[in-house]
Formats: sequence, C-alpha cells, structure tokens
Amino acid sequence: MLLELSHKEKEIIMKDLSPLQIERLKYQPKLPNSLKEGINRLELVTGEDTTATRDAEQIEQLFKNTYGKPIITFNSTNSENISEAKNVGVILSGGQAPGGHNVIAGLYDALKQANPSNKLFGFLGGPAGIIDGKYVEFTDSFIDEYRNTGGFDIIGSGRTKLETQEQFEKSLEICKQLGISAVVIIGGDDSNTNAALLAEWFVENNTGIQMVGCPKTIDGDLKNDQIEISFGFDTATKTYAELIGNIQRDANSAKKYWHFIKIMGRSASHVALEAALQTQPNITLISEEVEQKKLSLDEIINDMSDIIAKRAESGKNFGIAIIPEGLIEFIPEMKSMIANLNDLMGELEQDVNYNNATSTHEKFEIVENRLKDENSKVFKSLPALIKAQLLMDRDPHGNVQVSKIETEKLLIEMIKSRLEEMKSQGQYVGKFSEQAHFFGYEGRCAFPSNFDADYCYSLGFNAFALVNFGLTGYLSSIKNLTKPADEWIAGGTPLTMMMNMEKRHGEMKPVIQKALVELDGSVFKKLEVNREDWAMNDRYKFPGAIQYFGPTEVCDLTTVTLQLEQDKRLVKA
Ligand code: FBP
Repeated sequence: MLLELSHKEKEIIMKDLSPLQIERLKYQPKLPNSLKEGINRLELVTGEDTTATRDAEQIEQLFKNTYGKPIITFNSTNSENISEAKNVGVILSGGQAPGGHNVIAGLYDALKQANPSNKLFGFLGGPAGIIDGKYVEFTDSFIDEYRNTGGFDIIGSGRTKLETQEQFEKSLEICKQLGISAVVIIGGDDSNTNAALLAEWFVENNTGIQMVGCPKTIDGDLKNDQIEISFGFDTATKTYAELIGNIQRDANSAKKYWHFIKIMGRSASHVALEAALQTQPNITLISEEVEQKKLSLDEIINDMSDIIAKRAESGKNFGIAIIPEGLIEFIPEMKSMIANLNDLMGELEQDVNYNNATSTHEKFEIVENRLKDENSKVFKSLPALIKAQLLMDRDPHGNVQVSKIETEKLLIEMIKSRLEEMKSQGQYVGKFSEQAHFFGYEGRCAFPSNFDADYCYSLGFNAFALVNFGLTGYLSSIKNLTKPADEWIAGGTPLTMMMNMEKRHGEMKPVIQKALVELDGSVFKKLEVNREDWAMNDRYKFPGAIQYFGPTEVCDLTTVTLQLEQDKRLVKA
C-alpha cells in the first residue's frame, strides 16, 4: 500500500501527480465478503459439471483434459489453509480497458497474502512477452504506483495470438525458467479462447502449469449466464455518456447542429446501446437490429432523414444520432461488398496497373471493374472519402479495418443528398448542419469507476484463489454485481463452458461465443419502447462526469444494461 512506502518513495511518486491521481492511489477497493476474510480462509464449493454452449461433442474431443469441469464458488471459512510458495505470470491482452491495473493489484495482494515468498511476473507487451521472455517482477512500490489508475501501461498490452504449438513450447520454456506454475491472462473472448487452448495443452503435456483468465473488454461482448459483464464496460460507457450528455446540452443550447456520434465497441452494439440508455438521444442505431431486419443503407438513410425532417417541421434543426462502430458490417449489401473487396484487395496487391495508378479515382475504377456487379454498384454509390477508406491498409488477416471507416461521415453525406431530394419534392423545410464525432480511445483508459475499481480488484484477487486451489482452464468470475460489493459472489467458470464451434478463416474452430445485443432482451426493449418519444421530444439525460467520491447512489452505480438484465421490470419503469 502507498501508506507503507518510505517518505522518500512517497515524495517521488506524488511529484507531478494530479490531485485526483493522489486521492485515487489511496482508494481501497471493496471485496466480496467471501474474499474479505483473506485468501487463506477460503473453501471451495463445487457445483454441477458443465457442458459447452453448443457443439458439446466436438468441444469435448478438443479439450479432453479440461472439458466439463464444474462451476465453483468460494466461501469464507474459519480454518486456515497454508499454501506452498509459487510463482505466477500475468498477461494483459488486446485493447485497453479501465481497471486492468486493479486486476493485477488484486492478484498481487492475494498472492503476497497467501505467502510472502510468492512472486508475480508481468509479461511485457501482451502475449508476445511470454513467447519472447520479456517480463518484470512486481514489487510493492511498483504496484502501488498503479492502483486504481486507468490504462495498461504497467506492463503494456498487445494483440499477438497465443495459438501455435511453437508459441506454446516457447511459453512453457519461459515459465520453466522463471519457476512459474500458473499464468493469468486478462483478455477478451479471443484471448480467453487461447487461454483455454493453452490450458489444455499444459495439462496434456503434464507441465503442471495452470491457466486462469479474467474477462476484459470495453465492448461488453464477453458475457453469458456466468459472466455478468466484462470489466471496463462500466467506465468506458460512463465516459462516452458524459461526452454525449455534454454534446446534447450544446445542441439544445445552440439549436443549430445535428451531431452524428460513432461509438467504439467493435461488432456488438452494447456500448452504443448503454450510452444511449444513459443519455436518451434522438436516434440510436443498433447493428444487430439492422442485420435482423435486413435494412439496406438506403432504408437506414430514409429512416434517419424522416426523423430529421419531422423535427425540422417543429422548428428543431438539431439532434443527436448514435452510431455503433460495427454498423457497416451488419448492413447486408455492405457486408457482401466488403467480403468481395477483401478478396479482391489480396489479388490487387500484385496487380501492376493498380499499383501504378496515380490517382485514387483510377484505383476506384479498377476496383469497380473487378468487383461482382451487385457489389460494384454498392461501391460506386459511396462517397469518395469512404471508398478511399475501404481501400486502405488491411489488418493482418487481410480484412478491411472497419473501425477506420468513418461511418458517421458516410451517413451524413448520404443524408445530405436525401434531404436535398426531399426538399425538391417539398417534403423537407429545414436546414441541415452537421458535426461528426468518434468516441473510442477517450474511454478506454479513464480512471476506473468505483464499480470497475472494485470489480477488477476482486477479479484479480479471485484469480489467485483459483490458482491457489490448483484449478486450470477457468475464468475468474464475480457475480451478483447489481448488489453492493459485500454481496458479490466469487468463483470460477470453466472456459470450455462458454465455447462453441465457429468458422474462422474458412476453418471450424472452438471459440468462446461472442455476446451480441439480444433483440428480445430487456436492454434493447428499453430503447425500443422509448424510441419514438426520444426522437421527437428532447428527453436528453446528462449523466455528467464519473464521480469517485460522494453519495453511493451517484458513485457506485452499475450500468443500465446490468440493471435491466437483472430486473426486467425496469423496462417499463
Ligand atoms: P478488445 O476486444 O481487445 O478488448 O478491444 C476493444 C476495442 O477497443 C474495440 O472496441 C475496438 O474496435 C478495438 O479495440 C480497437 O483496436 P485498436 O486498439 O487496435 O485500435
């Protein structure tokens, strides 16, 4: 703890810190009652054996040693367990999410509490660190500098996938060198899928090394019956909601702009939906709905233009539209065009004419001539800016990086033309002036909210409990999250329980199922029942900045998503 540091050490740390940084360093995150009694006073309660989400037989075949294990829960007990000294490694994987530092702090505190001779090693730069043998050993003063802070800068993160035999062997070698008997991976669905593969491989090869995961991602798409929410979603959505609220006030004050706000969150629209429920903007697009209703780009544009025109009729030439990051991939004709384009761009890499083309227009022409007819028509209909973005660098798998496509600007351009058309037909009388925004990185490294600070610390502490009981192939799970932290339930969920078979790069692979927005679920329903009202009447809500100190009703609130998921009556409230 910071208080245990020497005066000199404290002085160095405090220099150049903001007042909030200093206060947050002192915050002691809350733990569930079961974990509060101490890491050595836990008993393990074994639940029913589990199966996989789907494709149980295939998953069982692929995970012969780790499949079907029971869900477990921890209770506190009076008897004390003394455990042998052990070394543990930890990896941060994928995109940043607020609270990652607290997972490591919780893990470290539990590990030292269990036995002061235990050591925690942090692998640097994500999963690549364990392959390349780049690591640091944590100490009290090192950890103390990062308590309750946002970011992953304590050891860095990365997107290397741990999936090949060679990578597994290298990881084993490094673990042996450091005497590591357990690795904790803090990541999303892909990283935890890889954790499951590595867990199985470690058992199959009698290495004695355990693997435990922690559910991370601001996207909120790593959730199921056992994992109520991934960490970071709470803080990121509150940060975006604050910004949207501020913009709503501005729009309602100046009454002259339509703001189009794209919100990060990859494919799933959970982040956009949560931010919308917190702020009640005029328009919220949900990618999953677009896909289910097979809405074309034109239909989306027409619907949005109709709302803009209707508001203009009542003198309101302003408004707020929320657009989920992944929208473009869910519009059927765009999806098909992008798939065709991804293949074509691979061929064009070697194409002399394409590579020698001197203008983007020449490139557009080559692409238009080589795409399938229906896809070419879609490509041609797009504004030049979007066409150019679609031809930009591909990701390592050869796919267009959809997060770099400025969907908000695409919609603006197309709405402008549609409104012109409507004007010429006497169907629109307003004035359309727009502002485009993208909120993403602004929310990924914010100071974790009290919820995320407590949840993450508990996840990390609990991850060590799983390790200490010798478990492997488990995801650290803390449940009952809409209740005060005292009442949270700590335990573990077998990773194979969340898996099914999906096609990846043309091959069927075992993966943790990604959770998309459920259109018959209470969270989406809340938007659906209010949509018309929010479109025309300005029911804007202003959540303001995240509060860390003050009344618990303000500071310790969970997300609307969690509340609605756990109490469906709130849809009508
Ligand atoms: P994870 O799935 O790794 O948690 O990443 C979340 C995310 O923030 C997405 O919302 C976003 O699309 C992506 O990362 C951006 O990635 P990058 O940081 O590589 O630009």
